Amino acid sequence: MRAKLERDFDRFKRELPRDFPAHVRGSYRIDLTARYLGELVPHPIGKGSGQLSLNPGQLEDDAAAGLAFAVLKTVIAEDETGTQTMAAWAIHETKMKVERRPAGAGRAGWTVSWKGRGWDRPFAEYLALVRAGRDLTRGGRLLVVPSVKYHLPRLAEPFREGEYRYTTAQLADAWREPPLLVEKDFSPTLAGDALADDRAQILRWLEDVPRQIRAASPIPVRVALKLMNARFDDAFQVEMMNASAGADALVCFNRLFDAERSVAYGGWDLSDRNLRVLATHLTPGATPGVPALTGTGNIGSGRMILDYARRGCESVQLHTFFQLPLSEYAATHGSRAQRALHALVFHPRDGLLAGMLELEARGALERQSGELRFLDLGARAHRAG
Ligand SMILES: Cc1cc2nc3c(=O)[nH]c(=O)nc-3n(C[C@H](O)[C@H](O)[C@H](O)COP(=O)(O)O)c2cc1C
Repeated sequence: MRAKLERDFDRFKRELPRDFPAHVRGSYRIDLTARYLGELVPHPIGKGSGQLSLNPGQLEDDAAAGLAFAVLKTVIAEDETGTQTMAAWAIHETKMKVERRPAGAGRAGWTVSWKGRGWDRPFAEYLALVRAGRDLTRGGRLLVVPSVKYHLPRLAEPFREGEYRYTTAQLADAWREPPLLVEKDFSPTLAGDALADDRAQILRWLEDVPRQIRAASPIPVRVALKLMNARFDDAFQVEMMNASAGADALVCFNRLFDAERSVAYGGWDLSDRNLRVLATHLTPGATPGVPALTGTGNIGSGRMILDYARRGCESVQLHTFFQLPLSEYAATHGSRAQRALHALVFHPRDGLLAGMLELEARGALERQSGELRFLDLGARAHRAG
């Protein structure tokens, strides 16, 4: 197996097989099938919402690369008059800087420094992007999901239902066939905002937002909450997960906020925190009505995917690893998404396949009907919990 993996890693540097999950299943008897927001996808690796899913060209490239799914940039909700209570998040900023971010124990990860926030163009253009995503999804080429930042009130205030209703109805109209899949973003800049100073206020959002979106949607809807890393301790982060039981899925967890520099950041501090909280979450008694989990944060190897999967994540969303300098990828040809997939799946030491085979050798993962299955990793975590 090891020799085969080395051979595949080497020959796929130029080009991944068109249907690499089928190749993996045939050659290694490993079933990479994963799940995002209740939808089965051929493998666990998708693109997180952000600057890499702003236009149909980027989606087309991701479909060609073989990504499992892509979440569109976050749009700021509006009502039928165009009013956006969260307008402070619809600001324009183009410059991104990919840089090293040192963490403890001498580890230097990568982060993308960027001062922008949500979608800054007209809503009608976002809806056109949703339609392009719908066509790719219908064609079975790439599952595409919109992301929204809806109104979040202070404790004494009501939700602006008009913004929930209008935005969700427009998305449903663009998507057409149920169910509508939607991700609700709680961003790091929100975590850093005075709005998020109050724990009770945050917990109310998490309890009420899924209900608000369901009530607003004219067609059946599945809701993923992309949880922020709040500026409180790990125990509160678990409390946030428990308060989100009304969601269908949770994306765990968006980037950390550096208050001094006033920027969101990732790297090892982010994955350390996320994995620590996810491990706590699986302890007995901490899992009433748990929504499905998807991991995000500092994923740059198959081993890191396994770390999230073994803590219950059924898929993962990446952003930074799709933005590295080309010299950081072993592959010599293809888009960054393709080169990233090559490393994440086939790296002979740190790739997903190498990691799953190692878990099998250690007796931590068993074959079912002759196959190792990605989705068994999380099921095992839940049983252990
Ligand atoms: C430049 C940039 C813009 C982002 N914009 C959004 C966004 O609009 N909505 C959102 O939910 N997440 C956004 N994210 C978060 C990513 O989707 C991802 O969850 C996060 O960066 C952690 O993954 P990573 O360590 O692989 O980058 C953004 C990230 C970056 C780096």
